[in-house]
Parts: sequence; structure tokens; C-alpha cells
Amino acid sequence: MDIDFPNGKKLRLVIGDITKIRVDAIVNAANSGLRGGGGVDGAIHRAGGSAIMRELDEVRGKTGGCPTGSAVVTAAGALPAQYVFHAVGPIYRDGRHGEPAQLAACYRKCLELAEERNVRTISFPAISTGAYGYPAQEAANIALETVAAHLDGAETRVREVLLVLFDAGFYQLYQRTASHSLSNWIK
Ligand code: APR
Repeated sequence: MDIDFPNGKKLRLVIGDITKIRVDAIVNAANSGLRGGGGVDGAIHRAGGSAIMRELDEVRGKTGGCPTGSAVVTAAGALPAQYVFHAVGPIYRDGRHGEPAQLAACYRKCLELAEERNVRTISFPAISTGAYGYPAQEAANIALETVAAHLDGAETRVREVLLVLFDAGFYQLYQRTASHSLSNWIK
């Protein structure tokens, strides 16, 4: 599904493996220790190669890691991209411990990093919805609203944002949610 904004920017919902799709920047769903893991994180390190972890080791050495709601940048190794933005989503407890603001902050931080680096195309996984237990519907609302608000803005150089959903169930949920919340832009 494509959502076209009046300024020519595009939000795309895609089913698939985020490591296989060519973009300028791929967002990873990382942990605050930047130590790798399963899910998207595992797939990104496997496909990108060990250079990504070596770069994260340096970042960790300097800063101790990355706080929840933020992201750090590395090169993308063998991935079909220039950068990986390692975003740290919240671990979901009950939604009353700042999780919505932290999840929105992840998306916003990655979009800021993209603007700073002249990234035109960027792909996001459904951050926090796997091991971190964020309810899919609430995560979809936040992802779609945050990305749409950015793309609709006047000053964005990012021209295409892909939300990459790993399975058909997630894809349908995001599609339904987009049809409701972004209905004025849907083709
Ligand atoms: N491409 C796209 N999406 C994927 C892929 C992939 N290759 N693999 C998994 N997903 C989906 C999952 O189905 C889920 O919807 O990404 C979403 C996020 O799941 P996780 O990868 O588990 O990320 P998260 O919930 O943010 O948990 C982060 O898990 O892997 C560890 O190191 C990571 O500790 C961190 C935690």
C-alpha cells in the first residue's frame, strides 16, 4: 500500500524481510547495550556482517550504549543500504510508563538522523512489537502517525519511508490502521 502526500513524499507499507530491501538507511530494532540479539537485530547483523558490530563496539566504548527512545548510526556493511540506524524501542509494560512517547521518539530520532545525512529512502521494522512485547495495534498507530507527521512537513528531504512488516497479519493491521488514520491521503 502506498500513501502519497500532496508534497510528493510517500509512505509505503511492505511485507518482507527488511534486510533484502534496498534503501539509503535501514532502521534496526536494537537494545540499549547495542549488543545484537534475535529478530530484526539478528537478521541485520547476519546479513550485514561483523563490521557493524565492530562499529557498535566503538560507540559503546564511548557512550556506554544508547538510551531507550534514541538511535545510533553505523555503516551498513553488506546490506543493500548506506547506513543502519540502531533504534532502541521501549520494553512494553502496561503503556503507562512512557512507552508511547519513547516509541514515537525512536521514529522521530531516525527521521532526524535521515535528514542530517541526506537520506532519501528509509525502512523501519515494527520496532518493539517482537521481543519487547508492544501491542501491535498501538505500535501501528504510533508508527503511522509519527511518520506521516514528518512526511507531511515542509522541510523534509526524506522522500520515501517504508514500514516493513514481517508477516501478512501485521501488514493487514497496518493497512487497516492507515486506511482509518491517514484516509485523506490514501489512493
Ligand atoms: N524484517 C522485518 N521485520 C522483522 C524481521 C525482518 N528480518 N525479523 C523480525 N521482524 C519483526 C518482528 O516480527 C516484529 O514485528 O520485527 C518486529 C520487531 O521484533 P524484534 O526484532 O523482536 O524487536 P523488538 O521487539 O524491538 O525487540 C528488541 O530484541 O532482537 C532483540 O536485540 C534486540 O534486545 C532487542 C530486542
